[in-house]
Amino acid sequence: MGLTMDLGDAAFGKRITVLGSTGSVGCSTLDLVARARDSIGVEAFPIEALTAHSNVAELISQARTFKPQLAVIGEPALLDDLREGLAGTGIKAAGGPSALIEAAQRPADWVMAAIVGAAGLAPTYAAIERGAQVALANKECLVCAGELVMALARRSGATLLPADSEHNAIFQVLEQANRDAIEKIILTASGGPFLNMSLDDMAHVTPAQAVAHPNWSMGEKISVDSATMMNKGLEVIEAHYLFGFGADEIEVLIHPQSVVHSMVAYRDGSVLAQLGSPDMRTPIAHTLAWPGRMDAPSERLDLAERGALTFESPDETRFPALRLARNSLQIGRGAPTILNAANEAAVTAFLGGRIGFLDIPRVVEGALDRMNNGRGVADLNALEDVFALDSQAREQAKQLMSA
Ligand SMILES: NC(=O)c1ccc[n+]([C@@H]2O[C@H](COP(=O)([O-])OP(=O)(O)OC[C@H]3O[C@@H](n4cnc5c(N)ncnc54)[C@H](OP(=O)(O)O)[C@@H]3O)[C@@H](O)[C@H]2O)c1
Repeated sequence: MGLTMDLGDAAFGKRITVLGSTGSVGCSTLDLVARARDSIGVEAFPIEALTAHSNVAELISQARTFKPQLAVIGEPALLDDLREGLAGTGIKAAGGPSALIEAAQRPADWVMAAIVGAAGLAPTYAAIERGAQVALANKECLVCAGELVMALARRSGATLLPADSEHNAIFQVLEQANRDAIEKIILTASGGPFLNMSLDDMAHVTPAQAVAHPNWSMGEKISVDSATMMNKGLEVIEAHYLFGFGADEIEVLIHPQSVVHSMVAYRDGSVLAQLGSPDMRTPIAHTLAWPGRMDAPSERLDLAERGALTFESPDETRFPALRLARNSLQIGRGAPTILNAANEAAVTAFLGGRIGFLDIPRVVEGALDRMNNGRGVADLNALEDVFALDSQAREQAKQLMSA
């Protein structure tokens, strides 16, 4: 990187909103913004809105630093604290779920959707509805409402820019002009912290062990999902909606070094891959500067130093979550929504010490079974249908966990 950060023509001056700014992806996004502003000035990335759920102290600190027009706290009881913390700054403060949607509706050119879980669906949907460029980190919103979200993007003309590192990799190497020549896409997975652990040992792992990811520093929920490999299952579903491949055209390959982020295999035998060090600032920068490129501070890949890169097939006996997700995608209808909601409920319970690690896929499978894999579910024609099914699945998961 030179003395002045090069943002490329497409990124400079982009007005941005970060939904979930206090999380891991949100902070990585703001790190790029801070560097650009330090180098170029505040006009590099004017900020429209920042949002958080309950970390009001961090939101106040971010808002004071980045000076958005609006700061939103999802938890309404914390609005007074936010107002107090922003007194005298001229920054508007708001709270509650409708304010999250308002944040997404404001006129930013680019919105980072980095709220975790189905809680991100309504705000992300609002940003897509007004035709923005939306950098999509929040994979759960595609898992629970993929058809609705993609149909909305087609109607509104919104540009969905995959920020998840695997999907960003596919986005970078997928030749749209040769779409028919693609045989399959290959999502790589680190395998998480328990890749080589026996089922007996996995039965006793603690939340602290599960969130200690070997390569990536991420929020708690996605870290647990990586440990169960549900994360890769959610990503198979995400890839289906983003790129239009069927479940049998999406392969998962364990790659513990997390250097090859994903690949596309073409019918002439070519396999195109995107590589980089495991740092979310690279895919985020790609979405921020798209269709150009900008400087990002991620550690440069030194393959000679890095040494061997290894690949192996996933073990769906020890990691059944991947099988459950793939089945849900094949069944379609309400199955992915149920899978996602039951998984969120089970992960929360695991993090709270109420169930064991191996109970997570059991609860998800149990909820899917109890709800006949969503086969009887009527079409999900509106967000309300998704939220109703999501609540039913959480209730089933709750019952299973208290049984
Ligand atoms: N972290 C990664 O490297 C990574 C990579 C690829 C994809 N993703 C995806 O990106 C999303 C965010 O992941 P993350 O690791 O950044 O998560 P995280 O660190 O847990 O951050 C989540 C963000 O969402 C906010 N939030 C949580 N619950 C909310 C609710 N009910 N309503 C409104 N806001 C809420 C949090 O606010 P508070 O801080 O106030 O709780 C925080 O700002 C996930 O969907 C994940 O799968 C993450």
